[in-house]
This record gives sequence, C-alpha cells and structure tokens, in this order.
Amino acid sequence: MINVSNLRKTFDTIEALKGISFNIPQGECYGLLGPNGAGKTTTISIMSTLIEPNEGKVSIAGYDLKKNPLECKKNIGVVTQEIALYNELPAYDNLLFWGGLYNVPKLELKARIDEIVNLLGLTDRKNDKVKTYSGGMKRRVNIASALLHRPKVLFMDEPTVGIDPQSRNLIFEVVEKLHKEGMTIVYTSHYMEEAERLCDRIGIIDNGEIIAQGTLDELRTSGSMKETVVISFTNLTDERYTAIVNDWNDLQRFDDAIHFYSMNIQGDLSKIILKCNEVGLDIIHIDIRKINLETIFLSLTGKQLRDK
Ligand SMILES: Nc1ncnc2c1ncn2[C@@H]1O[C@H](COP(=O)(O)OP(=O)(O)OP(=O)(O)O)[C@@H](O)[C@H]1O
Ligand SMILES: [Mg+2]
Repeated sequence: MINVSNLRKTFDTIEALKGISFNIPQGECYGLLGPNGAGKTTTISIMSTLIEPNEGKVSIAGYDLKKNPLECKKNIGVVTQEIALYNELPAYDNLLFWGGLYNVPKLELKARIDEIVNLLGLTDRKNDKVKTYSGGMKRRVNIASALLHRPKVLFMDEPTVGIDPQSRNLIFEVVEKLHKEGMTIVYTSHYMEEAERLCDRIGIIDNGEIIAQGTLDELRTSGSMKETVVISFTNLTDERYTAIVNDWNDLQRFDDAIHFYSMNIQGDLSKIILKCNEVGLDIIHIDIRKINLETIFLSLTGKQLRDK
C-alpha cells in the first residue's frame, strides 16, 4: 500500500533524512519510533505532499506521489503534529470546512461528521467553539478532520503528545478500531509503549535513518540482547558469590545484588533461584528487566529514546 524508497531531505545544512526506505502492506499499522529531531515529521510531511524530498520515491495505493499527487491525496488522511483549527469556530464548522476541502458532498458530509464526532467522543461539545476545548479535545477534532473523506491510509504524527490520559485512551481505541477495519496506518511516536501496543511493525528512526525494523518480537531477537534479572540478597558474601559464579558465568555483582543475564530469563529464572537457595542466599527482591523498545533503542544508539 505504501512504498517509500531512499528518501533524502536536507534543510540548509541539516541532513534531516539520509535515505529512508520502508514498505507497508495494506491494513498494517506501522510505527515510526524515534527521539526528537529523528526525522519523523519530515518523513510524514513528504508522504503527505507538504514538502518535497531532495531524492527518493514514494508511492501510495499504487500511485506515484510525484506523478499523481492528487490521487495519492485522495487516499490519505493526515493528522499533523501541529494542530491547525479555527479557534473561533465550533468543531462542527471546522469539520464542514475540512470536508469541503476534500470535496465530500454536502449531504454525505453532515452524516459523516455526526458519525466521526461520535467516534471521537465529541458529540456533546461539537457546537462549542474550539477555543473552549482542552488540548485533548482539539486533538480529537484534528483526528476527525483527517477521517472525513474515508481515506484508506492514515498518517498520525505524535497524536498523543501533551494531552490528558482520557483523550489518550480514546485515541488508542480509535486507532485500534480503524486498524481492525483494515485501514493502513503510519503512526509516529517517541513513546515505546504506544508503538508496542498499536503497531504491527516498527521502524526505529534516529538521525534521519531507520536503524532497525520489524515486529516487536523480531526486534527483540535480532540483536544479541539479553534480559536481566536483578536479585538482591540479605547475606551476599564473597564465598557465596564465588559459588554462584562457578555455576553461572554471565552475571555481575553490584553490592548486595547480582545481575544475571540470559537470552531466556523465563526459562532460566527457576534455575537461578534454585542455585541461590543451594548456596544459602536469602533473597529479598527480584527485578526482571525484559527487552523492550526502550532497551533496544539504547543498545542500538547508546541513547535514551526520551529525555527523562
Ligand atoms: N523547516 C525546517 N527547517 C530547518 N530544519 C528543519 C525543518 N524541519 C525539520 N528540520 C530539522 O530536521 C531534523 C528532523 O526534524 P523532524 O521534525 O522531522 O523530527 P521529528 O522526528 O519529527 O522530531 P519531534 O519528535 O521533535 O517532532 C531536525 O534536525 C530538525 O531540526
Ligand atoms: Mg515531529
């Protein structure tokens, strides 16, 4: 459904995209996960025809973006990172305006607005001016405006940044529903929990490059990353530690705790605990650190996905 090949984009001296490529089959929710400045918005802006790349090709629903921008645009809905709404108008009128831009016929548009407003939980407030809305409500109108013309493809650029938990949950549910109905979605985020929950496949983007790509399971197993179980003891002595080391070589001691590393912590945990009991160690705390997108990103780049 979407083919992106070798996109490059330079702003003055900044190389924002250094050759981005990915293919997204119909019905997939694809996550672009990366920190601030990684190139997520630049990629989405090129795919939405808002800016032109210096190099590279995009095709959407079989149409080449450069040769057939109008056909491409008919097929896509865009939820931009920056919300653009008329604050002095109610949500309903904003949606009438957007629907008009997409050439949705008037009669059909009114029914469609009612349907979408309901989907996004805005029915009660649809006639109030947008300036009276919370950030989360504005974001929901912004999403509604992208769906009016029933696009086959939806681009969502960090749709949950800076909004209340209730709106955030509602947006997740809407994305899940659209995905179930077969929509192809590109979802950018720097929250790994969102990508893990919503996306079938994830491209990890950093400094204008996709540095890893796959399903969560593929990403977890592609590197030689290990899971860690941290066990703290009340009576960890040098002798007891030596007895453990004799049996388990992939480990490290930190004061009263031992970090055990394993490719399969689930399978190894009972063996580790048994060994600790055998050498007379009293366990006071166990912490299992699984591999997630945050640790994958850290191991690939040496950086945190998000500033803490
Ligand atoms: N119009 C522009 N002019 C100059 N530089 C730009 C412009 N747009 C983006 N950049 C630069 O390109 C790089 C990629 O920016 P982009 O907005 O695509 O990142 P992002 O992944 O969307 O980040 P964020 O999570 O902060 O939204 C950054 O270094 C940014 O400063
Ligand atoms: Mg951005």
